[in-house]
Amino acid sequence: IIEDVQVRKILDSRGNPTVEVDVITWNGFGRAAAPSGASTGSREVVSFPEGGVDVIVSEIEDIIASELIGMDAEDIATIDEVLREVDGTDNLSAIGGNTTVAVSMAVAKAAAASYNMPLYKFLGGNLVNELPFPLGNMMNGGAHAGVNAPDIQEFLVVPVGAKNMVEAVFANSSIHKKLKELIQTKDSNFTGGKGDEGGWVPNITNDAALEIQAQACEEVGDELGIEIRPSLDMAASELWNADEQKYIYAQDGIKRDTGDQIDFVKDIIDTYNMFYVEDPFDESDFDGFAQLTSKVGDKCLICGDDLFVTNKEILAKGIEMNAANAIIIKPNQIGSLSETYATVKLAKENDIVPVVSHRSGETTDATIAHLAVGFGSPMIKTGAIGGERIAKLNELIRIEEELPNPKMGEF
Ligand code: PGA
Ligand code: ZN
Repeated sequence: IIEDVQVRKILDSRGNPTVEVDVITWNGFGRAAAPSGASTGSREVVSFPEGGVDVIVSEIEDIIASELIGMDAEDIATIDEVLREVDGTDNLSAIGGNTTVAVSMAVAKAAAASYNMPLYKFLGGNLVNELPFPLGNMMNGGAHAGVNAPDIQEFLVVPVGAKNMVEAVFANSSIHKKLKELIQTKDSNFTGGKGDEGGWVPNITNDAALEIQAQACEEVGDELGIEIRPSLDMAASELWNADEQKYIYAQDGIKRDTGDQIDFVKDIIDTYNMFYVEDPFDESDFDGFAQLTSKVGDKCLICGDDLFVTNKEILAKGIEMNAANAIIIKPNQIGSLSETYATVKLAKENDIVPVVSHRSGETTDATIAHLAVGFGSPMIKTGAIGGERIAKLNELIRIEEELPNPKMGEF
């Protein structure tokens, strides 16, 4: 039974304010914080109400506490409904999706704690035994970096040959180190600068970045004796210019219409044997997604982030159109744990790979590590380096140690 709900303003990794929530029950305690995006999808719920985090702390905290005190923390779905009712808008703009999601996750953690259980086990049951492959962020461009960086937002890798979590996260960190060396050979002014998610920010073309990404995967993969595959988040909504109906690659001085973009992405996937490509088209272009998925979906994961915004109804449309074979799961895009789970469930029922994910602005909260394991997500996207990123990776190492028969996820 919930006895108190406390909200505080804390720092995120960009130095911006965000919310952290404590939920206190008579025999449990849960704490969770919400992250923030920079390349947010237009159909996401609104993170913060007008007036920002200060208003949440001064006014909204009391409203939520008075509603939730006396409720059972195990009734997460009911609590999520109450939060939606308190808000009263479709996009959670009155009290903020970051408020509701932090409360929702803190409630779940308090419920788990009352059984003396870690959250992943509370959500997934005693049989959970799979760990997610970490999708590590190696180089940053676009909205997560400065003006002379590549246009593609994220150059990622997946250590698909790793046999366990420890091997997987250290494979990613080895690639990160290798790429620093390789960038220095292409960009003599490179200062070691990093972007919002801890990847390097080189002043090189998209092609040059793709080349060294592939080279790093091969060389480190050979050294470690495991297969490591390159991946991308193109965050193409940020490149799309609706007036010109073109994707603008400023660093390369190239503009591509939708047809060119399909050819360009398909070519990258073929040339570099990409494992995973996220948001290769604008968030409204279901058709572009569907065309690409029909061409390469048998050998590459085509993932929707801004496309689906963790929304079950939008995912249902994507399933009907065969728009993608993977979906990014960011709880704060939809505003509650129960709605997040509903989207994961629909994805799994339709063989769409759910990829639980961080945001570019993060805290050291490690809840998403538990969600990935508890939901049985075969992959987690949470960077490779930086305190707020390793908070999740190190938690996964601890979870691996706790599981009786741990194994890496299956696709
Ligand atoms: P965001 O970006 O958190 O800035 O939205 C991450 C992503 O696009 O995956
Ligand atoms: Zn994305």
